[in-house]
Amino acid sequence: MSEAFHAEPFRIKVVEPVRRTTREERARLVQEAGYNLFHVPSEAVYVDLLTDSGTGAMSDRQWAGLMLGDEAYAGSRNFRHLEDTVRRLLGFEHVIPTHQGRGAEHVLFSAVLREGQYVLNNMHFDTTRAHVQYRKCVPLDLAIAEAYNPTSSHPFKGNFDLDRLEAALAAHGDKVALVLATVTCNTGGGQPVSLDNLERTSAIAARHGVPFFLDACRFAENAFFIQEREPGWAGRPLGEIVRAMMDCAAGCTMSGKKDALVNIGGFLALRDPEVYRQAMVWAVLFEGFPTYGGLAGRDLEAMARGLEEVVDDDYLRYRVGQVRRLAGLLLEAGVPIMEPPGGHAVYLDVRRFLPHLDQDQLPGQSLAVELYLEGGVRGVEIGTVLAGRDPATGENYYPRLELVRLAIPRRVYTDRHLDWVAQTVCRVHERRGDIKGLAFDYEPPVLRHFTATFRPLA
Ligand code: F0G
Repeated sequence: MSEAFHAEPFRIKVVEPVRRTTREERARLVQEAGYNLFHVPSEAVYVDLLTDSGTGAMSDRQWAGLMLGDEAYAGSRNFRHLEDTVRRLLGFEHVIPTHQGRGAEHVLFSAVLREGQYVLNNMHFDTTRAHVQYRKCVPLDLAIAEAYNPTSSHPFKGNFDLDRLEAALAAHGDKVALVLATVTCNTGGGQPVSLDNLERTSAIAARHGVPFFLDACRFAENAFFIQEREPGWAGRPLGEIVRAMMDCAAGCTMSGKKDALVNIGGFLALRDPEVYRQAMVWAVLFEGFPTYGGLAGRDLEAMARGLEEVVDDDYLRYRVGQVRRLAGLLLEAGVPIMEPPGGHAVYLDVRRFLPHLDQDQLPGQSLAVELYLEGGVRGVEIGTVLAGRDPATGENYYPRLELVRLAIPRRVYTDRHLDWVAQTVCRVHERRGDIKGLAFDYEPPVLRHFTATFRPLA
């Protein structure tokens, strides 16, 4: 069978019916939701591409693991399974489970950040940025310039710009608390970071005496791109690549809701016993005793099993192949997307999709609403609405990229569903000239994308 063949490496044992709605119904629902798709009931969404986080399908082996939950407050066997798995797969000695990725950020940052310090990242995810700012520290994004060019075909658009990294370390000296690499780089389109770049970033951080961590949510998808694209690593076993990525770092934060293939869960993994000791204190306060971390024993078991399943050639070829197939259908039809497609989502490039709207007319939000109206497809705006305002001046931040993300849940939708998504996007693209913008009706002071409401511009 040809290498390009990457159909589903699983068969379907349980199904969940989804309901089709009429355009009239959707028009009413979206109006009631204040044109904010976070407020639309999920039963009224046909293909839900709001996020790939916690929306995946677990395997029969994971479901079976739920029955083996040891719900002891301390020392549950499922914790030990998770700990063994993280040690074996990622090579980190210490593991603190957390309720999800941001829980791990909260615990780590409580242990290592002091007011006024800097965190350097290729691109911060929003919760990571918010947690840095919550500790009155400064998040800086230092990805290469290509990361901001939607048509650049650079194979590793998530890479750090090493000159800017050096410059930031020189400028802020010992005020830099942490260098953090997000793999894959979600905010930049799910783009991978090369192993060469991780190694160099790690070496530069070490030279300045700054710890280097990974935001490892999509580590397996990142490893797949390295296996596919990176000279010297092409064709090597995924397990070896994952280990080489982790070997660069002092630890990682992890949202199990992505590449641990679970609906809830996360962890903080560490090498240094002293940082571990400090982090445990905060873990008890915010998440729970460090052998359960806000999760049931059964959830720990499912996460351990998910980590064992995700580092698999057939799975990742299918996974990334499915995202790439949707991207290909859109490109063929002339729909502008962020290229090359990343690991977990297709990002529509709104500036080229709706060139007649300026950023004040919230074009990303308008496009997301149109996709829902047209075909019951729910994506998410990653643009001006999400970016918010500068608290000092009250001015909108105008992000360099205005995107709508179509994130693909893991092992959930078939290619037929994604054909429907492609048709929906293409139909909206054909009538793009008629699409009007939106204005805020209610604009909350923080995290406005979750609770804002909008009205259509005439
Ligand atoms: N880091 C990255 C790169 C993420 O994408 C996310 C979550 C987190 C950290 C936080 O993890 O949600 O488990 O607390 N991203 C989701 C998304 C929400 O839709 O991209 P969490």
